[in-house]
Amino acid sequence: MISPGTMAAVRASGAVPNSEFLLEAEGVRKAFPGVVALDDVQFKLKRGTVHALMGENGAGKSTLMKILAGIYTPDHGEIRLRGHDIELKSPLDALENGIAMIHQELNLMPFMTVAENIWIRREPKNRFGFVDHGKMRRMTAELFKRLKIDIDPETEVRHLSVASRQMVEIAKAVSYESDVLIMDEPTSALTEREVEHLFEIIRDLRSHGIGIVYITHKMNELFEIADEFSVFRDGKYIGTHASSDVTRDDIIRMMVGREITQMFPKEEVPIGDVVLSVKNLTLKGVFHDVSFDVRAGEILGLAGLVGSGRSNVAETIFGVTPASSGTIEINGKPVDIDSPNTAIRNRMAFLTEDRKDTGCLLILDVLENMQIAVLQDKFVKSGFVQERELSRVCEEMSRKLRVKTPNMYERIENLSGGNQQKVLIGRWLLTNPRILILDEPTRGIDVGAKAEIHRFVTELARDGVAVIMISSELPEVLGMSDRIMVMHEGRATGFLDRAEATQVKVMELAAR
Ligand SMILES: Nc1ncnc2c1ncn2[C@@H]1O[C@H](COP(=O)(O)OP(=O)(O)OP(=O)(O)O)[C@@H](O)[C@H]1O
Ligand SMILES: [Mg+2]
Repeated sequence: MISPGTMAAVRASGAVPNSEFLLEAEGVRKAFPGVVALDDVQFKLKRGTVHALMGENGAGKSTLMKILAGIYTPDHGEIRLRGHDIELKSPLDALENGIAMIHQELNLMPFMTVAENIWIRREPKNRFGFVDHGKMRRMTAELFKRLKIDIDPETEVRHLSVASRQMVEIAKAVSYESDVLIMDEPTSALTEREVEHLFEIIRDLRSHGIGIVYITHKMNELFEIADEFSVFRDGKYIGTHASSDVTRDDIIRMMVGREITQMFPKEEVPIGDVVLSVKNLTLKGVFHDVSFDVRAGEILGLAGLVGSGRSNVAETIFGVTPASSGTIEINGKPVDIDSPNTAIRNRMAFLTEDRKDTGCLLILDVLENMQIAVLQDKFVKSGFVQERELSRVCEEMSRKLRVKTPNMYERIENLSGGNQQKVLIGRWLLTNPRILILDEPTRGIDVGAKAEIHRFVTELARDGVAVIMISSELPEVLGMSDRIMVMHEGRATGFLDRAEATQVKVMELAAR
């Protein structure tokens, strides 16, 4: 066993035995109360490669990477770094050994500046021992220049978009001169252009010999960026292959152990009367003159680039940020939706895109998170909550959505990212809505569960629910929508019927 200090010295001197692998894990096991997250798994990362990790929600991908990043200690198993056994004692220990991880839910301090976040706990000091802000800013600027990142180092992180926060995290990881970089679903909130930029950075790092672990649910990304991939299923290691050796279907089979034929099970259902009618809806400075109808049984897709105003329109309809002008009618009657409570009373449901900021109540358990939206009405009789009935319904929903959790009393924080999303979807499905707004409903969701959620949405449409679905994934919008409204810079730039909609037509309206 080599101590981290020695290791750093060895790295610095370059006197490292030439091992084929940069980082190896073997026979790793990790159990949490009620779940075996990893059962005797292995993983081997070569220098100068991008290695993708694939697997269904809850397969153990994040857990394995958290072990390699010093966050969790394995119950047993060996980890070797550049050919030497190593025990990682903490995330800092891992960082100092050259292993950096960018998390699925980003981890920056919102009220600190970009520069402060990057150099936290290793700030450059002036000769009086105080933080040298000028130097810190220059160091950040230099780092950003190298990575072609255009962000002001003095901005407080809370003012940054998700994409910018991601770039800051990457810059931070690079600043540690890490040679292993782990990215957990890094593109889930990025626009296509931002994804391209990220890929450029990744290719550049790879060409410098850095090994990159890349967790993703997106098949096209795997083929575009990954040299190799490993698949995990239910905590077990399934196999490793070169991405050029396999097809999409091969990977899906490895991941789910069965065939998934229909990705978008949209069926034709009768379309009824207009349920929601929005006219000239405007939120000053954000979006303008947006008008559309959604009918019972209809799925209206909202397409457009991230930042085009799709989510803002949804938030306004749901009363989160009431409109500055325009009207909303439900079943032909004007309604004044001044808060989410009013929206819920009007039987609207809204699955928000950002589960960490507005969706998940991390300290509550699965059951509490699921029932929170229905507590106010359906299950209250003469002032008492019908707890037993409510739990039964929640359990049934969680079974239907195949939420992977030991039981309903597990803190939602302990669920895998995709399973948290499923709980939130369950929350809104339980409210028995007549208008359902879904903002990026299948982000971070594995292929199997994705098909499951699509089936659910289709069933709701068949029952007469009017659905608005925002998605940045074009195949999903095209596959699921009866009609698509495309937005660009706060305006609706066009509508496309299911029969005429193509990726190219949507992109033309979205990019202008
Ligand atoms: N801190 C924890 N406490 C209890 N259980 C946990 C904890 N972290 C993970 N788990 C459980 O371990 C299993 C594997 O979770 P993990 O987060 O590794 O999945 P994943 O493959 O990253 O899934 P996703 O694609 O949804 O992000 C899940 O069943 C999860 O609920
Ligand atoms: Mg995960």
